Amino acid sequence: MEEYRNKRLYKIYENKVSQIETLPESRTIFKSERAQTEILYSESGDTTLIIAGEEYKGSFYLASELLEEWILPLLVEGYSPSLWNLSPIDSSYINERILPMYDNFDGAHQRDHAISVIDASLAAAKDLGVNPEICYIVAAFHDIGLTISREFHHTESARLFRENEYIKSLLSDQIINLIAQAIEDHRASSKNLPRSIFGIIVADSDRLLEPRTVVSRTIKFGIARYSSSFDMQLERCYDHISKKYSREGYLKYYLPTIQDINNREKLYKLAEDKKAFSKFFDEIYQEIVK
Ligand SMILES: [Fe+2]
Repeated sequence: MEEYRNKRLYKIYENKVSQIETLPESRTIFKSERAQTEILYSESGDTTLIIAGEEYKGSFYLASELLEEWILPLLVEGYSPSLWNLSPIDSSYINERILPMYDNFDGAHQRDHAISVIDASLAAAKDLGVNPEICYIVAAFHDIGLTISREFHHTESARLFRENEYIKSLLSDQIINLIAQAIEDHRASSKNLPRSIFGIIVADSDRLLEPRTVVSRTIKFGIARYSSSFDMQLERCYDHISKKYSREGYLKYYLPTIQDINNREKLYKLAEDKKAFSKFFDEIYQEIVK
């Protein structure tokens, strides 16, 4: 269990680490019935995690600027190994029945998008030590609600997931709820924070921040949706980037990685400098329409 404390909790905070502030007296600041998890802070500054009845004492760390306090309990829940155990899902079912649904969506939400969200989710699961099976299912189903509606695709994806006969035959109600919540929580413009570590992972994995990919997906979506001129596509794309990816944009990030931070900076710069953006846009646009 030592590894949960030292390796995993530290690892994601490599960018910026600071010790949890010592609280004046011992008290429970977090208790999760669902994961049977408690976090206790003691006078000495030691922290005890109680996961499924077992105590793990030590000094735990929180990143001071990049992460908010709510995220630690969610991470700890994700570690509770036996609670989230489930029978492995048949990946040929996902490959043959779920991923092909993406072939009918717009250029920005094709099968390659689902696969890249799966890959990023599995990498995060490995990195954080949380259940990869759950992350895989969440990622595979996260956008299938686009078959029904764009506006409510996150809740529609969750509904289709809950109604899926194969899933119902395989997973308990508790796990189905957990996964459906995470699917709902992936939405970039959602005002609410994800309710579990699995929602955090899919939300972050869905944010493909490599600037070229971001702009190219936006252009493809624009072309599929509106048959308008180059200038109008440029305006639309710039507007989208400014609203979503600028410093004040609505996109939220939960688990920062160094690569993401570099990409975020690049996107901030593009949103701030329209001339540079237009040049960047032109290059990618010409490649797409040629
Ligand atoms: Fe997505």
